[in-house]
Amino acid sequence: MRIAILGAGGQLGRALARRLPCWGHEPLALAEGKWDVADPRIIAHLVDLAPDGIINAAAMTNVDGCERDPATAFRVNGLGAEHGARAAAELGVPLVHVSTDYVFDGVTSIPYPEDAATNPLSVYGASKLDGERRALAAYPSTQVVRTAWLYGLGGRHFVGRIMELADERGALRVVTNEVGNPTFADDLADAIGQLIPHPVGGIFHLMNEGYVSRYEFARAILAASGRAHIPVTPAENFPRVARPPAFAPLANTRAAALGIRLRPWQAALAAYLTLAEGL
Ligand SMILES: NC(=O)c1ccc[n+]([C@@H]2O[C@H](COP(=O)([O-])OP(=O)(O)OC[C@H]3O[C@@H](n4cnc5c(N)ncnc54)[C@H](OP(=O)(O)O)[C@@H]3O)[C@@H](O)[C@H]2O)c1
Repeated sequence: MRIAILGAGGQLGRALARRLPCWGHEPLALAEGKWDVADPRIIAHLVDLAPDGIINAAAMTNVDGCERDPATAFRVNGLGAEHGARAAAELGVPLVHVSTDYVFDGVTSIPYPEDAATNPLSVYGASKLDGERRALAAYPSTQVVRTAWLYGLGGRHFVGRIMELADERGALRVVTNEVGNPTFADDLADAIGQLIPHPVGGIFHLMNEGYVSRYEFARAILAASGRAHIPVTPAENFPRVARPPAFAPLANTRAAALGIRLRPWQAALAAYLTLAEGL
């Protein structure tokens, strides 16, 4: 399939461009200029391009920035999702729209299945939920793929930040009361490459298996990157503009039923660090 990637310059977008050929797809990496998802003219541009599938990985992902500028957040994450879906509907081709664990409030004791009730705590989460709803309303065949705690080659993310801070400061404080699924962007891209040919729409949860607190994850990053000697102090609260969900691991039931599941997060982290070291 020739697959258009919206937001191709982002960390997931780049992972998709690298990994889709492994699943027999030809990626069309679309970023910037006329590929602004918030501009309704993108629908006609996509229809002219006539891909066999679309993956919308474009988003305003700066969570605190969304809190400060809700209008832009909803334009990109909400309306932008609808534009992708309207193009896919017009073409009659598969659409994967990428979303987030931030649609949940994190007040639960077990991982969220795909049909769990949503209740975003932040503008980012609310705008992404708006995007899910708009995409499914415009094109019910949309595959909404929720993921979490993404990191990938060339991106700015928690894994890289922990290593940078460890080297700069020699000691860290990391929160214990935020729990989720760290997910390697390449693994997510592989799963999306497998999911997109399935003629089944709705919500899917795709993330590396297993969940941890930010504190435990930071310790694992330090251990796996040769920095186990760096002390990490557990913390309860960090001043943040936007409130993240406290306990928001996702459960993959629907994609797993199709045989699509990602490896455990520990194995994914090791694979990422090996790849990143080789660059
Ligand atoms: N990062 C995470 O931890 C995480 C967790 C759960 C879910 N997600 C979701 O996963 C998807 C991919 O995220 P990511 O980590 O790859 O984020 P990212 O690195 O920030 O990539 C998003 C890309 O979208 C682009 N973009 C922003 N506004 C746009 C617009 N109006 N039109 C077209 N492109 C636009 C960005 O360009 P600029 O950089 O030039 O603005 C960027 O290249 C998003 O849907 C995100 O909500 C991410």
